[in-house]
Amino acid sequence: MDDRNVWRSRAAALVEASLSRPRLNHSREVARLASELCDRFHADEEKGYIAGIAHDLARELDISEMLLLAETDGLPLRDWEKANPLLLHGRAAAAILMKHTGFKDAETLQAIRDHVTGRGAMGPISKIVFAADFLEPKRDFVSPEFRRRTLGLSLDEMVLAVLERKIHFVRAAAKEVAVDAQALREELTTHA
Ligand SMILES: [Fe+2]
Ligand SMILES: [Fe+2]
Repeated sequence: MDDRNVWRSRAAALVEASLSRPRLNHSREVARLASELCDRFHADEEKGYIAGIAHDLARELDISEMLLLAETDGLPLRDWEKANPLLLHGRAAAAILMKHTGFKDAETLQAIRDHVTGRGAMGPISKIVFAADFLEPKRDFVSPEFRRRTLGLSLDEMVLAVLERKIHFVRAAAKEVAVDAQALREELTTHA
């Protein structure tokens, strides 16, 4: 087994030991779709797989634990994150993966952090995992038509379509749109 397969197996084993069956199935679908998209958009398939399988590692933790883990990345906790700590499950997941496997690839860890709200200036792995999290086929709130159409777009168009749909859900729930999500929207609509 080469080095890359070792990380892939370690991440998958950790996820299997940590998550409920439905979330494990979701994570596997995200990893599978992220791998496919990496292949299509000439990004590193292994990074896409590992970010995809590990992205929700912290999603089933208590909020207090999530907060503690998220802070270990050394970045500040922003007001909008404190107001809605569930948004920190990406930062916490990256911290868990690092802590329990020793995995250190910056681009992959950043994609795990970015999957919840997106962010301005995301790299290709972050964009792919952000889109795959929403578009994997087990998501019952995504229509087959939206999935098919969106998966046919360019990567930036795909991310924007997913982002608009996520913002729509956030507003429908009378919640604030995260600052990082607004920055991503601004970037993608300005440069479109
Ligand atoms: Fe998530
Ligand atoms: Fe997810």
